[in-house]
Amino acid sequence: MNLEKPMKESYVEMTEVVLPNDTNPHGTIFGGKVAQWVDIAGSISAIRHCRMTVVTASMGQLDFLSPVKVGQILILRSRVVYVGNTSMEVQVNIFSEDPLSGNRQKTGTAYLTYVALDGSGNRVRVPRLIPETEEERNLLELGEKISSERKKAGI
Ligand SMILES: CC(C)(COP(=O)(O)OP(=O)(O)OC[C@H]1O[C@@H](n2cnc3c(N)ncnc32)[C@H](O)[C@@H]1OP(=O)(O)O)[C@@H](O)C(=O)NCCC(=O)NCCS
Repeated sequence: MNLEKPMKESYVEMTEVVLPNDTNPHGTIFGGKVAQWVDIAGSISAIRHCRMTVVTASMGQLDFLSPVKVGQILILRSRVVYVGNTSMEVQVNIFSEDPLSGNRQKTGTAYLTYVALDGSGNRVRVPRLIPETEEERNLLELGEKISSERKKAGI
């Protein structure tokens, strides 16, 4: 197993179209559907970092900044922003795109924690996370803060 991995190896961009079945009675996207897509994108980031089976330990924070209408495109960008021993903190940024104008708007952010498991379901140490740019170093700092606040809160 790799002892360390660049942050960029965990990058995921997932694109979805908001169909009528994905919406609430107001014709805007149903939050539970977004949570599902967020968890899929986030888990792929965690898997790309550790190349092991992962489970979702926590969907710690999921903020919805603006509504997304049926017919719009949803883009989820996710990456591992911090690792502990067996856990990985993942940030998912969510954008909506108008299919006709191409206008993009940030509509949400989520932070999740995944834990790596081996074939027998035992927790496994994950590779160290290596930031390579200023932006990634800042994200690592943010991820560490989120992880330590969660631990301080006893979660
Ligand atoms: C997540 C899980 C594997 C943790 O196992 P555990 O025996 O409680 O492990 P520990 O308390 O020793 O913690 C192990 C790691 O997980 C982290 N962790 C545990 N619970 C957590 C939580 N609720 N939120 C965030 N991180 C958590 C710990 O901080 C620790 O991180 P570290 O190894 O980097 O220091 C276990 O609780 C589990 O299997 N939960 C169910 C997962 C699931 O079914 N998810 C939904 C479908 S994928």
